[in-house]
This record gives sequence, C-alpha cells and structure tokens, in this order.
Amino acid sequence: MVDILLGLQWGDEGKGKVVDFLCPAYQMVARFQGGPNAGHSLKINGQSFVLNTIPSGIFREHCKNLIGSGVVIDPAKLQIEIEKVKAAGAPVEKNLLIARKAHLILPTHIMLDAAQENAKGTAKIGSTLRGISPTYQDKIGRAGLRMGDIHEKDFDKKYQLLAAKHIQMIEALGGNTEKTETEKAFMEAVEYLRAFQMVDSEYYVNDFIFRGHRILAEGAQGTMLDIDYGTYPYVTSSNTISAGACTGLGISPQKIKHVYGVFKAYCTRVGSGPFPSELDNQAGEDLRQKGGEFGATTGRPRRTGWLDLPALNYAIMLNGADKLIMTKADVLCGLPEVDICTAYKTANGLTDKLPYDLCTEDMQMHLEKFAGWDDSLHQAETYNAAPQTFKDYIKFIEQSCGMGLTAISTGPEREKTFFME
Ligand code: IMP
Repeated sequence: MVDILLGLQWGDEGKGKVVDFLCPAYQMVARFQGGPNAGHSLKINGQSFVLNTIPSGIFREHCKNLIGSGVVIDPAKLQIEIEKVKAAGAPVEKNLLIARKAHLILPTHIMLDAAQENAKGTAKIGSTLRGISPTYQDKIGRAGLRMGDIHEKDFDKKYQLLAAKHIQMIEALGGNTEKTETEKAFMEAVEYLRAFQMVDSEYYVNDFIFRGHRILAEGAQGTMLDIDYGTYPYVTSSNTISAGACTGLGISPQKIKHVYGVFKAYCTRVGSGPFPSELDNQAGEDLRQKGGEFGATTGRPRRTGWLDLPALNYAIMLNGADKLIMTKADVLCGLPEVDICTAYKTANGLTDKLPYDLCTEDMQMHLEKFAGWDDSLHQAETYNAAPQTFKDYIKFIEQSCGMGLTAISTGPEREKTFFME
C-alpha cells in the first residue's frame, strides 16, 4: 500500500522531520512531483542536509528512494546532491531509482524561467527560478525531454532543437540568452547519471506494492501551491495534492491508504500571492525570527501569519487527509495571545470557504483569540503534561477539522513529538 505525506499550507510545513520519523515503517520513499524548487531539511547524525530532488529516505539502508515520473530533474543539481549524500554515507547506488519518464530541466529552461518571470513585471510569481515552470510547460506542450531519452542515440540532437526553441523564446521576451558554464555542467551530469538505476516506475512501484511492501509518497511544496487548486496564478506548476501521487507515480487511487497532512501551528508563504492571514507587522517579523522562517532553497524571508482554518479545511478536503500532524507548535510559546483565522470577512459577509479568486477578493481575517502558553511546553514529554491553554488551542483546531491530530511536533529533534494515538 501507499501512504502519502504532503503539506497542507504553502510549503515549508516541516515535512522533513515527519518523513524521518515515519520512514522506518516503509520500504520505499517516492517523490511524485516538483523538482529542485523543494528543500527538504533533514538532520542525520547531527549534520543538516537539504534535499532538493532526492527523497528523504536516502539515509536509510533498508529503503529504496524513487524520483518518480511526475518530478522534474535538473541533472547538474542532482549530481551535486548525490555526491553530497554519498559523502555522508548514504547508499545511493543501491537505493536511488530514477523514473525514465521524469522530465529534464535544461539550462535554457532555467534561463527562460528568469525571462518569463521578469516579463511579468509587478505580477511576478516569486518563482525559485529553478526552471520548474518552463519544464512543465514543455511536458504539457509535448515537447519535453525525459530521463529515458539520455540513453537514446539522438539525445544531443533533441537537446539542441529544444534549447534553440528556448533561445528564440528568451529573445522574444528580451531576456538574457548568454549560455554560460551550465550547458557543460548539464552534459557532464547527464553522462554521470547514465550509470544510475533507471526504472519504468509505474511497473516498479506496482510490483513493489504487489509484493507486500509499503511506500511513502513524499509531496513537495504544499496544497495552496497546487497548479489546479492553489492560489492561481501564484502557484507552482505541478499537482501538489494527493491526486498528484497517482499520476506522478503511476498508481491507482485504490492503492492509497492514508494521507498524512502536515501543517504548521501558524502559516508561512514564500514568494508573491494572496495570503489571507498574513501578519505584515512586527508580530509577523517576530514569528519569522523565532521560527527561523527563511527559505531552505533560496534563503528568502518567508511571509508569516496566523493559522488559517478555512484554508486548512480546504486542504484536508482536497487531499482526503486522514492523519493530521501539526509542526512548530513551540514557536508560539511565550506569546500572551495566539490567534486563529476562522473565517474571512468579505463584501458578502463572513465565509469559511475560499473564494474563486483569492487574488482579487478584498478580504479580511476573522480571528478567534486564545490565551497563549509559556515555555513549559518545551519540557513537556507527553501531551498530557502540556500547558492547559495549549490543549485548549489544540482542541479548538481538532473540532474545526473534524478529527483528532495524530502527532504534534514541538521542536526539531525527533523526541520533541507528541504522538496522540
Ligand atoms: P516555482 O515552483 O519555483 O516556479 O515557484 C512558484 C511559487 O511556489 C513561488 O511562490 C515559490 O516561492 C513557491 N515554491 C516553490 N517551491 C516551494 C517550496 O518548496 N516551498 C515553498 N514555496 C515554494
């Protein structure tokens, strides 16, 4: 069977820590969408790693790690990442599998990303500029190159044709067409990756399930960045929701058992776009500093805000999340008051539904206020030992979501977790 783990907000929910403690129960971790725009932080033997493309089970000896068909791969970045985890002792040659149908990010995709983003002027998405959007554009436009193509005789010719098309597009946008070292690095990395295990992941994954193994499908970004159901057009270019695991790995919905939805005790967003519960003030700045809210991939400061229950419930509905995990509850310690956005105030009154277009709707938060809790949460070893005001806050969230939380994380260390079941 397959369980899915994904983010219920705008990404950066702390999925890395959760994968790490769930991992022992699975024989494979599989990424199903996104690419090196993701940054999954892991701590292994005291050393910190940010994984961009490699699934988070790579340090586990028993665990296969599949980069699925729905992922887009930058060969040069993947090569660097492989070398980094290999140097730290990860069994990469044995356990890393790459789907032949995963699409390749060309150097010109990255250049085109910058040109398209610049051309948007004030309507910039705030892209990570990793070439994600142009690569998915070529995939949907049936023009892309895939991992399996690197073994074909005409790979170089196909590459040149596609790159030439990109250069024309960049020129039309008035962007920079100067090819730098990146093309050389790309070709060297393609050569390097030829030695790795490539699989027809749909067969591999289904056979793996048939043999009774368990797979954890690891989502990247978050639900509110989903191409279809996020805050369009300020979204990423893939399906970040649970349905994306079916298309991104080649599995049917019947194979999915649980959907673990991870959310922070507050909200963050990196890049532009609507963020209804944003705290664009000192309180937001304090939250950013205390929570270390700076992008794992780009280092950009993340925007911060209160927990947004309408958006959380929307995400739970879209994903069919049946296991909820709250992270970073400790970041709110010491605040005299903690707020939750429970509805939006619109011209038509209060609503707990997301409007068609969050970008044009003039909305304000409707907040419920809760008494804060002190630093004793850090010392609590069980949920029962947590401050009562914290438990009141949790109870309210559980009632609103219509289910109990499965776990609450109160710090980056593995033992700083309350397991509620
Ligand atoms: P892109 O996916 O790089 O094109 O970026 C599109 C939007 O998604 C931008 O607002 C990015 O900041 C955001 N984004 C992309 N990847 C992540 C992520 O892993 N965490 C949080 N935000 C992300």
